[in-house]
Amino acid sequence: MLKKSVEDALNKQINAEMYSSYLYLAMSAYMESVSMKGFARWLRVQAKEELGHALKFYDYVIEAGGTVRLAAIEAPKTTWKSAGGVFDQVLAHEKKVTGLINGIMDTAVKEKDYATQNFLGWFVKEQVEEEANATEIVAQIEIIGDIPGHLFCLDRELGKRE
Ligand SMILES: [Fe+2]
Ligand SMILES: [Fe+2]
Repeated sequence: MLKKSVEDALNKQINAEMYSSYLYLAMSAYMESVSMKGFARWLRVQAKEELGHALKFYDYVIEAGGTVRLAAIEAPKTTWKSAGGVFDQVLAHEKKVTGLINGIMDTAVKEKDYATQNFLGWFVKEQVEEEANATEIVAQIEIIGDIPGHLFCLDRELGKRE
């Protein structure tokens, strides 16, 4: 059985992962609107991954004998200034999510919930990867600056994501 505090934190994270998915899908739609199909594709794949994260939490709550409580998902914004603006926010958002995961871990440690600590281990590792990926893209856009031809090459490169 899950302790109430752990169950609440896990339910909150289902919502946070759904919001991440929504945010990245909104970013993907924006990149489509400025004809940068590669960035759009990368973000759409990312949105699907985040939905997968939400479902991992969902499945765990049920498996651990808890109750899933779904809440409203906040609407993300719909427009950004540039690809750079989008990916700066991706990185900032991933850092925020890392903080959320660490917070749930703190709760699980406090409650001596070893099963949830073990479950969260996957996400701790995943967040290192997520931050690294976003950092790399932010750096690449920074190097390229405003040279449209180079941005086009990066767009094509990111569009290869499966
Ligand atoms: Fe996630
Ligand atoms: Fe993420």
